[in-house]
Amino acid sequence: MPAIAIIGAQWGDEGKGKVVDLLAEKANMVVRFSGGDNAGHTVVNSQGEFRLHLIPSGICSPHATCIIGNGVVINPAVLIDEVDQLNRRGVDTSRLFISDRAHLIMPYHTLLDGLEERWRGKKALGTTLKGIGPAFADKVARLGIRTGDLLDRELFWERLQLVLAYKNAILTGVYGESPLSADEIYNQYHHYGERLAPCIRETTVMVEEALNREELVLLEGAQGALLDPDFGTYPYTTSSSPLAGGSCLGAGLGPGRISRVVGVFKAYCTRVGSGPMPTELEDETGDLLRERAHEYGTTTGRPRRCGWFDGVAARFSARINGFTGVAITRLDILDVLPHLKICIGYRGDGETINYFPPSVTALARCEPVYEELPGWQTPTSDIRRYEQLPFEARQYLARLEELISCPVNLVSVGAGREQTILKKPIL
Ligand code: IMP
Repeated sequence: MPAIAIIGAQWGDEGKGKVVDLLAEKANMVVRFSGGDNAGHTVVNSQGEFRLHLIPSGICSPHATCIIGNGVVINPAVLIDEVDQLNRRGVDTSRLFISDRAHLIMPYHTLLDGLEERWRGKKALGTTLKGIGPAFADKVARLGIRTGDLLDRELFWERLQLVLAYKNAILTGVYGESPLSADEIYNQYHHYGERLAPCIRETTVMVEEALNREELVLLEGAQGALLDPDFGTYPYTTSSSPLAGGSCLGAGLGPGRISRVVGVFKAYCTRVGSGPMPTELEDETGDLLRERAHEYGTTTGRPRRCGWFDGVAARFSARINGFTGVAITRLDILDVLPHLKICIGYRGDGETINYFPPSVTALARCEPVYEELPGWQTPTSDIRRYEQLPFEARQYLARLEELISCPVNLVSVGAGREQTILKKPIL
């Protein structure tokens, strides 16, 4: 059996949690490979509704081993709280494991995230303030502390003292804040370490063994391709790669092991935080999409910016990820609209362009070129077969398929696991 990567294809919040939860019924392993608790994956199934930030969305499937891979940054307090909440609701978390190479979010990371945003002023990125950027920056700067370090008290203390001396110099010298206490952090993290120790592992071996046993392994992405630090709307991006390529690095397997890459797209676009979004609708249609779909951040509660489907960004996303198929979510949200628009090109600096510009200033100048399609104005939430969808809905999906140049595997028409139309099997 292959590894399948499930990738956010837009600016995050595409509904990856639902797709992973659905596929996890058949999977033996689900590995989260990037981001941190900036992500919010909502899963609705027979056990209830769950909002997960760090724990893989396969946790409700009793046969799936769930791994938080080395590519994730972990706030241990958030993780422990998430485990406790799941346990209280009767979800078994004994199949959850954490990579010993995953970096920890430390108290100075969350503090610095807020201070850096304040320092940016009008140019603030609109981060989730969870310490994600500072934690990934420390990883690359070789100043990080990893979950595996929690297992060795002396090493952890030594490492903390070294890094904290530097962080305190920044907190006090640059930002005029009070220094943090090494003792307090040590005691707090020592306690977290004791709690998490049983699930901290060399997880790449577990992934390899599962693949060698021909088991189905899902690689669960967080955020979306357009938030990738290399290919997204830099600097208005996140700090780890949400791309299919990132799944190899963040889970610890070679690209040849991945046989399918499923891109998850919403039937329209949303974005939360700052940065250009060419198809944004700052009108009543945008408000209608937001209210119908309750487009408010799972992690921060912020209203999401809503807009028409962006075919240019979608094609770019498909190219840099190498999608073999796509899932289109939230089609039902469009049920009430009399007509729909799809962006098929941009007009920028007097010329029409059909690629996604690398510069945010160029992208911000882009005016979308729209194609208009009729709406279907029929409820679709109870439909389970593709042929039963209204003609206009199939026409809309066919146009998306054409623009993305990739077959649609499944269509989601509601939050529930069962509210899914399988068009073409993924496997
Ligand atoms: P950070 O990842 O918290 O540093 O935030 C950087 C940017 O990514 C901000 O615009 C956030 O709103 C956005 N972002 C981070 N995580 C998510 C997510 O899970 N969904 C949507 N946007 C996100």
